Amino acid sequence: MLAQAIPDAGEDTPLARQAAEDARRRIRLRGRTLPKPSQTRVLTVANQKGGVGKTTSAVNLAAALAQCGLQVLVLDVDPQGNASTALGVAHEDRTPGTYEVLVDGLRLSEAVRQCPDVRGLEVCPASIDLAGAEMELAQESDMVARVSLLKEALAGYVAEREQQGRPRLDYVLLDCPPSLGLITLNALVAAREVLIPIQCEYYALEGLNQLRANIGRVQASLNSELEISTLLLTMYDARTRLAREVADEVRRAFPSRVLDTTIPRSVRISEAPSHGETVMTYDPGNSGALSYLQAARELVESHQLRTEAATAHREAVQHRAADPEVAEVRPEPADTPAEEPEVPQPETAPESSAGSAAEAEPAVEAEPAVEPQREQPAAVVDLRTGPLDLRGSWTPDRTAGRRAAERRA
Ligand SMILES: Nc1ncnc2c1ncn2[C@@H]1O[C@H](COP(=O)(O)OP(=O)(O)OP(=O)(O)O)[C@@H](O)[C@H]1O
Ligand SMILES: [Mg+2]
Repeated sequence: MLAQAIPDAGEDTPLARQAAEDARRRIRLRGRTLPKPSQTRVLTVANQKGGVGKTTSAVNLAAALAQCGLQVLVLDVDPQGNASTALGVAHEDRTPGTYEVLVDGLRLSEAVRQCPDVRGLEVCPASIDLAGAEMELAQESDMVARVSLLKEALAGYVAEREQQGRPRLDYVLLDCPPSLGLITLNALVAAREVLIPIQCEYYALEGLNQLRANIGRVQASLNSELEISTLLLTMYDARTRLAREVADEVRRAFPSRVLDTTIPRSVRISEAPSHGETVMTYDPGNSGALSYLQAARELVESHQLRTEAATAHREAVQHRAADPEVAEVRPEPADTPAEEPEVPQPETAPESSAGSAAEAEPAVEAEPAVEPQREQPAAVVDLRTGPLDLRGSWTPDRTAGRRAAERRA
């Protein structure tokens, strides 16, 4: 193999080692296509901590997946509109986008735009107007309807594409704002999976228990299929002990959910959005672009393996049930721990060879313990108005946003 022919560089020449690794990855990953999932995968990219790489990961993974032949949609649900910028899609005031979809009941197909640089990649843009949607939605009296608007809009778009004979969407990525308000709740209700980018710095684990608790509440009351499927370590610098320690903690807290691929710090990744591009087109040979390509591949392949394992397990259970001779039914393979360990919140900053945030040694407030996810009461927390009781039956109301807009007028 050509990739194996590239000689190893010594441990004392990290740049040469990186160059050799990148050359191997370029050969391994070039021109690869990725298999389509059996059904559309909808992933919400969330972490209420700001600046951890949510948008960067959403747009670059989306571009990488589309470059590998998949049909991808990015829903920008952050009023900052950073994902729209990075994907080269206009999002000034009055550009129809996520606000109009949520509040005015606009069809998603009327807001979706094609990303100019990547075939097969679409974007629903967001503008600063979206910040007002939190207020508009808060006025809606039907609690469940107001957090289900995005889900309804997405289902409508998927159905519309099917009716028009257009290819099925393979991946939908929702880029969330750094908060846990009604917009993020809409995104959690619309998705089946949560992808959490984690910046490998001291504060990285703060807030993860709270995010997990909120995801648990959404699972219990609104979206039983929701799961934290993927964690991605971003801005990772393997040379620092702090980054390695944070990575180890995250891997312990979410066994088998953290992608092996880590995203390094790269100037080219941070430059790309100012050119209205992702790094996948801005500098595809760059180490950061190769990492996102590799992460996209892992995202696809790890899911495929999990799906295959689950199918094999189901078949084995059915086979055993049909055979009275076999009494024992083994539990499902241990990929999904029944109860994941709580994310540890260190009392003091771990040592860092690179200095950085660890030097400040801030006092860390202990996070409240997270109850087992599926045993939460059927209530979801609106962080501004307190717990909302969502028990009881409900009918989806697609005109909720429009009624809110009418009230406004
Ligand atoms: N791997 C990386 N290397 C270098 N810079 C990066 C990398 N990933 C992200 N950045 C930069 O870090 C900053 C924060 O990234 P990003 O906007 O993706 O975070 P975010 O979690 O979406 O932020 P917010 O919470 O504000 O939405 C940006 O300036 C981005 O360009
Ligand atoms: Mg962002």
